[in-house]
Amino acid sequence: MSPTSTRRAVVTGAGSGIGQAVARPLRREGVGVLAVDLTDAKLAKLAAEGCETLAADLADPVQWDALAAAAAGADYLVNAAGIICLKPILDVTIEDWRAVFAVNAEATFFLCQKIGPQMRAGGAIVNLSSSSAKLASTVEVAAYAASKTAILSITRSFAYALASRPIRVNAICPGIIDTPMQERVLDEVAHMRGMPRAKLSEVRKQSVPLGRAARPEECAAAIWFLLSDESGYMTGQAINYTGGLVMW
Ligand SMILES: NC(=O)c1ccc[n+]([C@@H]2O[C@H](COP(=O)([O-])OP(=O)(O)OC[C@H]3O[C@@H](n4cnc5c(N)ncnc54)[C@H](O)[C@@H]3O)[C@@H](O)[C@H]2O)c1
Repeated sequence: MSPTSTRRAVVTGAGSGIGQAVARPLRREGVGVLAVDLTDAKLAKLAAEGCETLAADLADPVQWDALAAAAAGADYLVNAAGIICLKPILDVTIEDWRAVFAVNAEATFFLCQKIGPQMRAGGAIVNLSSSSAKLASTVEVAAYAASKTAILSITRSFAYALASRPIRVNAICPGIIDTPMQERVLDEVAHMRGMPRAKLSEVRKQSVPLGRAARPEECAAAIWFLLSDESGYMTGQAINYTGGLVMW
């Protein structure tokens, strides 16, 4: 199965960054896209481009069933909604931890659980993990990194659980992708470390063997691959998209 016109995809976090970069070309290829994000305003562009939209706060478990009902019979699910908590590790509170886990880990787990079994056979799920699930190079993202590590386990468990359908479930671990979330990382971590933002940006890029950040569209292409038949023998994997920052 390839992402073509008879197919339907659900993309969370579609109002921005990587989620939007995934939703757009799918829609352009004629795939029916249900784009999900916090507000209608965030989804207005995609609505104008022919996507169905659903405004939902995925941190709220009550909203999962409505999304699952709207997603019945989908071929693809991309769990891209995510939030980051930027704080020195010793200042992270239980509220910070729970807020991050509610969106990144809980919504990912329960959307796989509620949507996965009613997807069409041959379909695929991609969960957005992160290079931070494998590295500890940015210590101001400890709660986020823990939630992204949970996504690797969630991905493997659902890969087993849904394999007989068959529905494939893989994770992608992006490194530095130019999105609004990445802009926040630069603004806030530079402030916390008391260093110029441009300097932090340079240091981060120098840590990447390919020496640059990626565009969201580049990362979306790798997600497309994980959705398509081209990756038909891959499930339960965590694919790095990091310019070489992570090599395992
Ligand atoms: N940008 C990067 O460098 C990078 C690196 C690794 C992983 N990621 C992951 O990729 C995914 C997309 O990130 P991005 O960089 O495009 O970020 P982004 O902030 O640009 O987009 C994330 C989207 O998720 C939505 N969202 C957040 N909380 C939500 C909620 N409770 N309910 C519904 N929607 C919600 C936001 O409104 C936003 O539109 C995230 O899971 C992120 O953790 C990003």
